[in-house]
This record gives sequence, structure tokens and C-alpha cells, in this order.
Amino acid sequence: MPYSAGMPELHVVDHPLVQHKLTQMRRFDTPSERFRQLLTETSLLLTYEVTRELPLTTTTITTPLVETEAPELVEHPVVVSILRAGNGLLDGVLQVIPGARVGHVGLYRDHETLQAVEYYCKFPSLEGQTVIVVDPMLATGNSAAAALDRVKADGPAAIRFLCLLAAPEGIAALHEVHPDVPIWTASVDECLNEVGYIVPGLGDAGDRIFGTT
Ligand code: URA
Repeated sequence: MPYSAGMPELHVVDHPLVQHKLTQMRRFDTPSERFRQLLTETSLLLTYEVTRELPLTTTTITTPLVETEAPELVEHPVVVSILRAGNGLLDGVLQVIPGARVGHVGLYRDHETLQAVEYYCKFPSLEGQTVIVVDPMLATGNSAAAALDRVKADGPAAIRFLCLLAAPEGIAALHEVHPDVPIWTASVDECLNEVGYIVPGLGDAGDRIFGTT
């Protein structure tokens, strides 16, 4: 999707490997073990995109041949996982950014109101940091919005939101309350159903990851 300065950003990662793996995850009969493996592989690929514009500095190093100037990250981003399904993305993210520190925020969806209720929060210092908030499913946007409120309260310099699937309703809701937070996703699906599930979606991401029902 083209981006104009000042507009909320949405990045759809249409890489063929990401799309192929996502299709396997959507299949109802993909078992948890395989689902987890695919999610790790996909989140690793998505992390390349969400970190594409992280600032670099130069440092002096010595190769086996010469001393030279070479680029390195100014600092590692902090990753914040929205429990519990966000943890399904962590393995892949941390394979690519092993130096990242990790925060967790526990939010559950009240099944009647669909509102997010916080039950746990533990962050490293976010002051002045770039924070990548991860949750596989951007559905109503309520959990994501609540998590971003919580993250913003700790004073980060920048925040990016990474998910696997997004509903148009969730994107609109998140852009409405957090227009400064760009979103990366592998797919924008059709809609939410009457109980807040993404359609066509992949079902309950937490259940698919952890083998619960
Ligand atoms: N959370 C999920 O795990 N799946 C959905 O479809 C919506 C929210």
C-alpha cells in the first residue's frame, strides 16, 4: 500500500515464502507442532521487514585483512509480546535479533464486551527505545490499543506493531487511536465475524500455538 507522509502506515509483507507459510497455517488440520514451526519461520521473515529501517552507525573493526569502518545497529529494539499468542512470534523474532530485551503484557479479551483486560505487565526500560509490539492477530484492535497505551506510558522513542493477520476493522481502530504506530502484517483479511474472529483467518491463534481448545 502506498504511504504518504503523515498518514498512518500499513505494510503488507507479500513475500512468497511468507504467503506460502501463512496458507499452511490457515489450514484447519495443520497440527500445533507444525503450526508453531511455521509461525516461527514466518515471524523470522516478518522481522526482516519490520526492522528494515532501524538506524545504523559505523564502528571500526579489524577483519583478518585490514581495519575498516562497518555498519552496526545503533541499539537493539525491545520486543513486547502481548500474551499469550504474542509468544508464538517471539522465537522467530529473537532468532533474528538475539540481543533484544523482551517485555510481556497480559491482556485477555472479555468475550462479551470484546474489550481488553490487563492481568500482567513486565517491561524492561522502554525510555527512548524502539519497541516492536507483537501479536499474531489484529482483530478488533482493542488488545493492541491497550498494549500500545501501556507501552507509550513508559516513554519509548518509536513503536512498531507486528502481526500475522489483520482485519480491516482492527487496522482502522488502531490507526484511529495510535496513528503514529506503523503496522506490519502478512495479510489483511476480509472482516471480523460476529464474535470477533478474523475471517477467513486461522482460528484462535493461542489455541493453535499451544494445542488448547
Ligand atoms: N484472536 C484470534 O486468535 N483469532 C482471531 O481470529 C481473532 C482474535
